[in-house]
Amino acid sequence: MSSNSLAQLKATGTVVVTDTGEFESIAKYTPQDATTNPSLILAASKKAEYAKLIDVAVAYGKEKGSTTEEKVSIALDRLLVEFGTEILKIVPGRVSTEVDARLSFDKEGTIKKALQIIELYKEQGIDKDRILIKIASTYEGIQAARELESKYQIHTNLTLLFSFVQAVACAEANITLISPFVGRILDWYKAKTGETYTGETDPGVISVKRIFNYYKKFGYKTIVMGASFRNTDEIRALAGVDFLTIAPKLLEELINSDSALPKVLDAKDAQNVDEEKVSYVDDEATFRFLLNEDAMATEKLSEGIRKFAEDAVTLSKVLEEKVLA
Ligand SMILES: *[C@@H]1O[C@H](CO)[C@@H](O)[C@H](O)[C@H]1NC(C)=O
Ligand SMILES: *[C@@H]1O[C@H](CO)[C@@H](O)[C@H](O)[C@H]1NC(C)=O
Repeated sequence: MSSNSLAQLKATGTVVVTDTGEFESIAKYTPQDATTNPSLILAASKKAEYAKLIDVAVAYGKEKGSTTEEKVSIALDRLLVEFGTEILKIVPGRVSTEVDARLSFDKEGTIKKALQIIELYKEQGIDKDRILIKIASTYEGIQAARELESKYQIHTNLTLLFSFVQAVACAEANITLISPFVGRILDWYKAKTGETYTGETDPGVISVKRIFNYYKKFGYKTIVMGASFRNTDEIRALAGVDFLTIAPKLLEELINSDSALPKVLDAKDAQNVDEEKVSYVDDEATFRFLLNEDAMATEKLSEGIRKFAEDAVTLSKVLEEKVLA
């Protein structure tokens, strides 16, 4: 094999996206799409070159809001949009923008917030087709996304997805893209069992493979984008999946390797998998029960929401100080 592993991965049909919020790094790897969220912005906001974006957001919040709380909330949304707009100058595709994780169990609140974000992008001259609204894969989040997709033709990226039941409900809801977190599933199992796993036995890989095969077998269009990788074995074991978002460090490892990377997942083979069609999108009780049965998914979903919410609170505090100054 003369071509490096990354080139081979792309040749399997998988679209590779760089998993970073850093503008320099996005520019270096020129991914199709990119993402932004309060955690990435919090890290970036400590750098001098991003101070201008914060100033714009704070001024906008002060102008549009009446109470301090409103000003901060508007400034936060505007800040996400400022970063998203900068990223869209670099990537040809779409940018994901997160709905405040504190709304993860509030369907109407999520819809309202998503519409506000799309409106802010519109003010910047950016069309909704270049945005993916990122929402946690709770029952309420999936229902909100379903309405955003069907009623407003707004595209969504359902995140914190750790289980088959969440994936099935997302496909039924006509979600544009799901991003199952492979590495975080592995983390949980390693901590729980103390075992080591190969690419093939990795529980995160097994989960994504099942979702991919199920979607292809039953003709769902929802894009499967594997995310959060701990090593390149996980990536190799998923070659052929729709999209993968990979951190710069692992991209470098793939570029520097020339070992063979064959296609593993294939929509044609999926027709033969042993799966029955199931439905959860309108069955809240079963959705919640099955999610609860899966200790890993339940814990990882809760933890993920807590972490995203914490970052939103921290970023809000930074903005509040500036709004009041
Ligand atoms: C969707 O969200 C995930 C997880 O937060 C992110 O890593 C990914 O880049 C997003 N996908 C796209 C296409 O923006
Ligand atoms: C998803 O889209 C299909 C085809 O456009 C449609 O028949 C179905 O009702 C939609 N499902 C939901 C949950 O909106």
